[in-house]
Amino acid sequence: MFKWAKWLLREEFEKDIVSPNGRLRCRFYLKNDQIHYSIFKDEKTILRKSKLGLKFCGEKLIENNLRLVRTQSHRKNETIEMPWGEDRFLKNNYHETAFYFAEADKPNRIFTLRFRVFDDGLAFRYEIPPQPKFQQLVIADELTEFNIDPNATAWKIPAYQPDRYEYNYEKVAVSSLRQSVHTPLTIRTPNDAYLSIHEAALYDYGSMTLKLNENLILKSDITPLSDGTKAHVLLPFQTPWRLIMVASSAISLTTNRLIYVLNDPPREDFSWVKTLKFIGIWWAMYVGEWTWAPGERHGATTEHAKEYIDAAVRLGISGLLIEGWNDGWEGDWLQNGIHNKFTVSTSDFNLPEIAHYAKSKNIEIVGHHETVGFVDNYESQLEAAYNYYAKNGIHYIKTGYAGSMMSINGRREYHHSQVGVNHYQKTIELAAKNHICLDIHEPIKGTGIERTWPNLLSREGARGQEYEGGAISPSHACFLPYTRLLSGGMDYTNGIFDLTNNVKRISTTLARQLAYFVTIYSGMTMAADRPFMYEGNLKSAFKFIHDVSTSFEKTIPLAGEIGEYYVVARKDRDSENWYVAGITDENPRHIHINLDFLDSNVYRAEIYQDSETAHYRDNPFGIDIATKHVGKSDSLDINLAAGGGFAIRLEKK
Ligand code: NOJ
Ligand code: CA
Repeated sequence: MFKWAKWLLREEFEKDIVSPNGRLRCRFYLKNDQIHYSIFKDEKTILRKSKLGLKFCGEKLIENNLRLVRTQSHRKNETIEMPWGEDRFLKNNYHETAFYFAEADKPNRIFTLRFRVFDDGLAFRYEIPPQPKFQQLVIADELTEFNIDPNATAWKIPAYQPDRYEYNYEKVAVSSLRQSVHTPLTIRTPNDAYLSIHEAALYDYGSMTLKLNENLILKSDITPLSDGTKAHVLLPFQTPWRLIMVASSAISLTTNRLIYVLNDPPREDFSWVKTLKFIGIWWAMYVGEWTWAPGERHGATTEHAKEYIDAAVRLGISGLLIEGWNDGWEGDWLQNGIHNKFTVSTSDFNLPEIAHYAKSKNIEIVGHHETVGFVDNYESQLEAAYNYYAKNGIHYIKTGYAGSMMSINGRREYHHSQVGVNHYQKTIELAAKNHICLDIHEPIKGTGIERTWPNLLSREGARGQEYEGGAISPSHACFLPYTRLLSGGMDYTNGIFDLTNNVKRISTTLARQLAYFVTIYSGMTMAADRPFMYEGNLKSAFKFIHDVSTSFEKTIPLAGEIGEYYVVARKDRDSENWYVAGITDENPRHIHINLDFLDSNVYRAEIYQDSETAHYRDNPFGIDIATKHVGKSDSLDINLAAGGGFAIRLEKK
């Protein structure tokens, strides 16, 4: 069938693909029907010879009589523009080679491996074009290996666990990764390269987790479906990009944006998408003052919602999240979610009235859909639920999937399986059709699809502040920029001021709560405490939350180490102002900040920092607020308390 000229068919082949600056090199090998690749940076081995391949159900492995038919190389060097986010302009600069393979024997399958080598990482994917004998395929396994030195250090969270991605990061040796872990998996090699293994453009496929195989090599473990297979796909099909970010320091890894450039530009107009800062009928439930369920202490009443809308106006915050507004929260909501109704309000909450009131005050309502993982129930109401919000002029929805598994098509499936991935995608596309932006809690991890779907403004997908009151240490948020946040923004629910609450004791200082608005980027950013906690601070600590931007022109990582501290500067998209912030673990720290990234000498710095006696345990409220004139030739020296942080607004004069 495939009559490739004999002279083109190569049984053995080796080729180097070199990055634009010549420093990163990928070597590709075909020998004895096996495909391998390895990565070098400046002659240092980053990844040893690692196997590639796919295994299909009911078919023999594509392993025998494998021939390279041809290769095709090209280069790209362009700048892309993101509509919102941490950096407006991103470089998409790579050298690409595609390797076209065919089986010399029946069934003469063909497939392509496409590699892109950037200065700061490498990506590849498998592409299966249409072929006469197959219209669909069932993927049994993906053989992709990442052969890292077993002595390397990794920062991991476990995969396939009931709380999804909501775990504390642990520092371990790669040689110990016998149980699957999620990506991005950040690694420091013994020769001091910093890597993060991840994927980009995850569509219609199980998400990639990683674990050691029987040869103790780190291998992709694609999340299975309940039938034990990895994915059922129609041809043509391409896997997500397998991505290895490469940096020479932990701090420079934090601005690796390859996940975005590996995704496609949007196919429709998204100029209606706007980032948002919001408060919520929310933390009052976490500290036990109000309830999601109807009753005496019901949070989402018409009266409370009006009070909160008025408060948002006073605070100068544009949005209000309302949780617990709909039918289904009675009793143990984590068990009963199968009955949740997404178009029916509780009897004490009038959605059209609140939507109307909010509009009259210029406040955006953030709607809420808690599915508890009962996806069948949610999907049966999906169109109606999104129409209902759209009809009431609501342009933002926070969704949630708080269950250990999803129920889809009557089966229990992982959130991060192919059907889970497809469900999230369905909500993003339906939301886009209704001009609605999403903030997904218990989401699928980020793989840069916000580039194509900018209405996906944020997601959770890590342990957030709701775990405070015992399950978060000051180091937790110091891991995130180097791990979870490499997959995009996060709704961490920042800005809790009630730090000594008995129900939810917070393990940070007050200045640190402000710092989060800069250190943890989110296109939908929550000021999570109850408004009365902010009202007395409008001219002090809350002013920073009011002022801080939700979309940045550029981000400059300044200093940090994984799990220890992180300092970053970000320039506002819409003004000449800058925001600089830092956080530290349990250890107090002195930070020296050189302001040479500023472009002139006339800035007014508003500095919010831990007081001399501040401490996350003994004196969390100790904060010093001061202003100062600074410029690009100046520097600032800041002391961070244990569990502390700082936030600075630099206003150009
Ligand atoms: C978990 C989410 O992360 C949280 O923000 C939400 O309040 C609860 N689920 C209830 O939906
Ligand atoms: Ca959650």
